[in-house]
Amino acid sequence: MSAQIKTATEEQAKGGSTFIPVEPFDIIVFGGTGDLSRRKLLPSLYHRYCDGQIPDDSRIIGVSRSKLDRVGFRDLAKKSYLEFSGKDNYSQDCWSSFEEHMDYVPIDVLAEDANWAGLTKALPQDDERIRIFYLAMPPRMFADVCAGLKKAGLVTPNSRVVLEKPIGTDYHSALEINEGVGRVFDEDRIYRIDHYLGKETVQNLLVLRFGNILLEPLWNNRAIDHIQITAAESIGVGGRGSYYDGAGVLRDMVQNHILQLLCLTTMEAPASLSADDVRTEKIKVLRALKILTPETVATHSIRGQYARGQVDGEAVADYLTDVGVEQSHTETYVAIKAEIENWRWAGIPIYLRSGKRMSERFSEIVIQFKPVPHSVFGEDTRLDANRLVIRLQPDEAVRLWLEIKEPGAGGLRLKTLPLNLTYADNFTVRYPDAYERLLMDVVRGRLSLFMRRDEVETAWKWIDAIHEAWKKSGQRVELYPSGEDGPRQADDMLAKDGRSWSKQ
Ligand code: BG6
Repeated sequence: MSAQIKTATEEQAKGGSTFIPVEPFDIIVFGGTGDLSRRKLLPSLYHRYCDGQIPDDSRIIGVSRSKLDRVGFRDLAKKSYLEFSGKDNYSQDCWSSFEEHMDYVPIDVLAEDANWAGLTKALPQDDERIRIFYLAMPPRMFADVCAGLKKAGLVTPNSRVVLEKPIGTDYHSALEINEGVGRVFDEDRIYRIDHYLGKETVQNLLVLRFGNILLEPLWNNRAIDHIQITAAESIGVGGRGSYYDGAGVLRDMVQNHILQLLCLTTMEAPASLSADDVRTEKIKVLRALKILTPETVATHSIRGQYARGQVDGEAVADYLTDVGVEQSHTETYVAIKAEIENWRWAGIPIYLRSGKRMSERFSEIVIQFKPVPHSVFGEDTRLDANRLVIRLQPDEAVRLWLEIKEPGAGGLRLKTLPLNLTYADNFTVRYPDAYERLLMDVVRGRLSLFMRRDEVETAWKWIDAIHEAWKKSGQRVELYPSGEDGPRQADDMLAKDGRSWSKQ
């Protein structure tokens, strides 16, 4: 019995994956030759096709301005797969049959004479079939593309649209986009993607919180001292400088990924996992976030930009060189001391941080519990408070740090050790990329892992206030050497509260 509890069952070890085929569908990927499509979307569809989940009469149609034909698109997709995804999951046989489903239509979507007719011709005329328009393109084009689709009669009753983040650059642009898209698609046909919600460990947050009785009674400001949410990256801005310099990490990572993690960590238990039940709980958290003002922003946020340095033993350039500009106030790092003004969380800080060119890539959520109210072990015995670390990536794990007695002679010595639930030790399944699950959810019509309109808009209001406060107060962008974990001032912000960033 105990052996069964300690080790994963055979079924778990395989990951228990079963692939239930979805209904046949047609997916039209706008921005089909772009980075996202080549790195994530086409590989994800290929994996699920090889897993037997995508029926044979489904179609994948790439759309972009490039003057390619079907064969050119297939070649590009294969070359990109091998370049970005490697050979581990590649099979020539499977690819050959997968690419039979791929087609390509060149369209300059914003041109007067856009070739919508070419797309109509490439699609089966069947109102019942699932039709997915995936807009992997700059958000300012979303509304126009949707209007074009409608005018061309391409929006069938069973059509849905997928919008890549970021939805806009602030509250007003998001509103405009949502309204434009909403003129063509009803809200329950709009899938606003945040790929963090498709990550295994992010979904595990829901299971951990609501599938175990142990945590819930302690999940509040009486037992928890503070929470930290980190999404650190070691990469720089790469070839995305022109987008990134207008965005910065606050828009690129915090408005979406980090706030979604914050919501899942702190929301109340939803009545069910239905889309509206989950999203209704998330929006309550976003609405309860305390707004930062020009008076509070300096003590509650640090903005940074990477300078030259060393990452993984290699010298790397500064942000300005990467982007090719002489001056920029764009932040590539941010740390924020957030507060949720509700009964469960009032009074405890939630530290958020994200940055590029940090020492390593890791995302984790740390729940730091309060110390025991009184130590019976005497003043000389060090007693660490409990900590729950949810490691989202890489090395997915859940670790609960506890105090135990160190065995052996020599008096009562305490040690802090983790109950360690490492995914790699318990599951041998291939971790699907977040996009795989999300794409299949779009086909199935499941909206729970996508953002509702009001979530996106409310998140922007909170982010806009920070931008505004930075502008009004003239808060500096602090430089930090690449390869270090952000500016020193971010450490100082926690030190002033008697705390420090957790790192395993
Ligand atoms: C994207 C951001 O949404 O997420 C990128 O635009 C960032 O700047 C990426 O690098 C991080 O995703 P992941 O899955 O690697 O943590």
